[in-house]
Amino acid sequence: MADSQIFHKPTQSVITQGIPITGGLKEGKTIVIIGRILSNAHKSYISLKDGTHPSAKTALCISPHFEDDHPHILYKTFQNGSWDSDQPTSKSPLLQDQLFTIKILVTAQAYEISANGEELMVYNHRMPFDQMNIISMEGMELDFFGHLVVASYKKELINGLKPGTVIVIHGTVNSDCKRIEINLRHRYGIAFHYLCRFEENAVVRNTWTDGQWGREERSGDIPFANGEFFEMKFTCKAEQYDVSVNGQQAHTYKHRFTNLDDIDVVEVCGGLQLFSVEVKDP
Ligand code: GAL
Repeated sequence: MADSQIFHKPTQSVITQGIPITGGLKEGKTIVIIGRILSNAHKSYISLKDGTHPSAKTALCISPHFEDDHPHILYKTFQNGSWDSDQPTSKSPLLQDQLFTIKILVTAQAYEISANGEELMVYNHRMPFDQMNIISMEGMELDFFGHLVVASYKKELINGLKPGTVIVIHGTVNSDCKRIEINLRHRYGIAFHYLCRFEENAVVRNTWTDGQWGREERSGDIPFANGEFFEMKFTCKAEQYDVSVNGQQAHTYKHRFTNLDDIDVVEVCGGLQLFSVEVKDP
């Protein structure tokens, strides 16, 4: 995915100044923001802005409020030097010191905003969304910023694999997830099949060559939790793959298919929302 954006704990000043939205906003694109509202935040907001415009036009500002024991959210637009009238929601799942996942789907008419899986607001466009090129935030820490990728996804590995290549996958496991599957493929088979079967709490690892599966490896538990955000890494080493999830080593798999250069596709599918697949060559 060419325009994924992952930021590992950027500083407050970076996120307040604004992070570029690579590829811009497009109809059908879903922006994903995962973070935590600071416990001492007095004000907080997430804004989609035109960073090139001197008076920083803001198509959408989502502003959680915490006062008066009744948390609520205001939505507004800044143009022609002033804020348009607020559109409020009377309840808010966005609370101080709590993790949140906000998704903003851009449609032709509106931004469809949800938080923690709950629909919050359909905010009709008050200015063209395609002019918005940065996202800025205040009063929150950011764990992830990117956009949703279709659930079954193939990425080409331009240079194949080699010892030192790391494949990094970000996503959230659906609450009703039954399986998550990652395959490292070559033209004639699957070098490494990594399949989590939630109903059996089994992680099946195998290789498909000459039209058949080999011997399964199954030790160890599923390293994912339903409903949670994850960062998964496949590190290709000289002898084996190391698989880690959220920084914890989960599994290893000794190479059976050793022509690492020929491994040209990484495939991710199953009951997950996929945000990004990155390949880091050594
Ligand atoms: C089979 C399954 C395949 C693959 C394989 C791995 O039972 O149908 O999709 O997971 O196990 O050994």
